[in-house]
Amino acid sequence: MNYQILGKTNLKVPVIGVGCMRMASMPSHDLQNFIVRCLDLGLNFFDHADIYGGGKCEEVLAGGIKSLGIGRDKIILQSKCGIVPGKMYDFSESHILQSVDGILKRLETNYLDVLILHRPDVLFDGEEVAAAFDKLQKAGKVLHFGVSNHSPIQIQLLKKYINQDLIVNQMQFGLGHCKMISQSLEVNMNSDGAVCRDGGALEYCRLNDITVQAWSPFQSDNGSGCFIDNGNYGSLNGVLWEIGQKYGVSKTTIAAVWVLRHPAKIQLITGTMNINRLDEITKATEVNLTREEWYRLYLSAGHFLP
Ligand SMILES: NC(=O)c1ccc[n+]([C@@H]2O[C@H](COP(=O)([O-])OP(=O)(O)OC[C@H]3O[C@@H](n4cnc5c(N)ncnc54)[C@H](OP(=O)(O)O)[C@@H]3O)[C@@H](O)[C@H]2O)c1
Repeated sequence: MNYQILGKTNLKVPVIGVGCMRMASMPSHDLQNFIVRCLDLGLNFFDHADIYGGGKCEEVLAGGIKSLGIGRDKIILQSKCGIVPGKMYDFSESHILQSVDGILKRLETNYLDVLILHRPDVLFDGEEVAAAFDKLQKAGKVLHFGVSNHSPIQIQLLKKYINQDLIVNQMQFGLGHCKMISQSLEVNMNSDGAVCRDGGALEYCRLNDITVQAWSPFQSDNGSGCFIDNGNYGSLNGVLWEIGQKYGVSKTTIAAVWVLRHPAKIQLITGTMNINRLDEITKATEVNLTREEWYRLYLSAGHFLP
């Protein structure tokens, strides 16, 4: 496994993080095998949110960790708050504080390594977020803070109030959802990809030492699910296969390498609950892509270069 530092901290994390959004219904035997395999592969970073499985995902992981007798110091836990499903976003001080208490209880821990604000709450009051962060930090309940799905200007606005660095911005990114780079490649063109949907988040995060975490790296953005072995992505699958043959790895591995190959040192947050796929994804750290291969994959996914 390869490791990197999150943001400007001394927190060393694997370049592949384990997303736990799909963990809720995992049978305990499979779960134990999954966790053991994660740690064997060096994947000790687990990404959660208070809403995953309505809180069940956090409970399930905690149960698995406990049953295996794994010490808290052996794992890195990140979770998110701020979404009230189907109703609203809530960055109020009381909501953040209550959410973290719930997260800590479900994860059976007394601290989170990273707390992320899940989606922008446009009604947020900066002083309330600042008060919540200060209290959480002072109480030792949260060591580091970050955001998800935030634009540069939203991050800057938050930073006007808070006293801590924001060390991550979690954004959807992968061959099936390339908005963060299409806008740079098609800058000033009339094409659809030129539309700047995130305010230049990737460049901003690189400039400010904020680690971008790629969520749903294998999902399409047209609602057709995973793009691997997906008939809507025939050309992409052909090129993934061909390049995979060259390096002796699977299409899934190459799709993961494509994310990691970007010089922004993006941390890939995988969501598979399948051990074999986890192995394939981890192999991505052993392969590199040439510039030509990287652009070829981008084009075969249906994007274009002006
Ligand atoms: N910040 C946010 O707003 C946000 C939003 C969504 C997700 N997330 C985070 O991102 C993590 C990953 O999201 P995700 O689960 O949508 O990501 P993903 O890794 O792109 O997708 C995983 C899903 O695709 C399936 N799949 C089928 N074929 C696959 C293949 N060849 N390779 C890989 N996966 C394949 C997996 O099934 P199997 O389990 O059977 O392999 C699993 O259901 C989540 O767990 C969560 O932590 C964050």
